[in-house]
Amino acid sequence: MRILLFGAMGQLGTELQQALSPIGDIFPFDIHNLNLENTVEVRETIHTVRPNVIVNASAYTAVDQAESEAEKAFTVNGAIPALFAEEASKLGAFLIHYSTDYVFDGTKGVPYLEGDETNPLGIYGKSKLVGEEAIQAGDAKYLILRTSWVYSRNRSSFVTKVLEWARKQEVLSIVSDQVSNPTWARTLANVTAELLGKGMDCLREHRGLYHVAGNGYASRLDWAKKIIELDPNKHEQKVNEIVPALTSDFPTPAQRPLFSALDCSLFQATFDIPLPKWEDALKLAMNE
Ligand SMILES: NC(=O)c1ccc[n+]([C@@H]2O[C@H](COP(=O)([O-])OP(=O)(O)OC[C@H]3O[C@@H](n4cnc5c(N)ncnc54)[C@H](OP(=O)(O)O)[C@@H]3O)[C@@H](O)[C@H]2O)c1
Repeated sequence: MRILLFGAMGQLGTELQQALSPIGDIFPFDIHNLNLENTVEVRETIHTVRPNVIVNASAYTAVDQAESEAEKAFTVNGAIPALFAEEASKLGAFLIHYSTDYVFDGTKGVPYLEGDETNPLGIYGKSKLVGEEAIQAGDAKYLILRTSWVYSRNRSSFVTKVLEWARKQEVLSIVSDQVSNPTWARTLANVTAELLGKGMDCLREHRGLYHVAGNGYASRLDWAKKIIELDPNKHEQKVNEIVPALTSDFPTPAQRPLFSALDCSLFQATFDIPLPKWEDALKLAMNE
């Protein structure tokens, strides 16, 4: 199987390089060897590699910066996935793409289902929604995996930031009114490998959009507390108090959904792939 991987050096892409290597030949691309804004080169690359599967882990993920770089965000998150879908269709390749809980406005109050109404609050969410819709409108066979609060220990993430703050500050102030599913990038990569292991017929039969994230949900405050508790190098910590704060205490350029937890039961039932509890995944990630 020839797997063309975009976003290969991101949190998820790095894990995908490992997880997918037993499954096929991976052709990894990232901004260092191919800027996705150069669409001519992107098309040429796809034609040269002639993949069976395109896995798109690339994205413009700077949520706040997107507010002032809308054109870039819409290109990388909207136009490029549309191009992937078009080329995948021409080649008969399968497309695996990732999207975000930020397509929702966070007002539902219980975990979101795949068919719930979208209403992104910021440019990042809007641009990701354009990408979803373009893939859905095209002819390619695809899986869109909507996920949330992705972290890894290898790149800057909420987990690495909390560990850093805990070593510098005695008191941490963390928002308690943002709630979603913390998702280890490795979980998502392993799930992607399991999906490909099920074979193309299965993926084609069950193509569509699914929610895939850490099992269960938490506030950022609960998540931070767990990170600090599971830190294997606790002796390095300076923190002795973690206090709840509100999103409104930390004004940011982009508005974020408050309750954007994803209900992942459709994915688990359809593919018979259980998703680990977010706390269990975090425990493994912390003991790396
Ligand atoms: N991170 C989250 O909390 C989160 C939550 C929900 C959904 N998701 C989705 O999950 C997927 C994976 O996210 P992630 O956390 O792994 O993101 P990430 O770490 O930011 O990785 C994205 C990769 O895409 C690359 N990229 C951006 N613009 C590019 C361009 N013009 N040309 C080539 N490469 C470009 C980035 O390169 P640079 O690093 O050099 O910019 C980076 O390597 C994305 O679809 C994202 O929208 C993420």
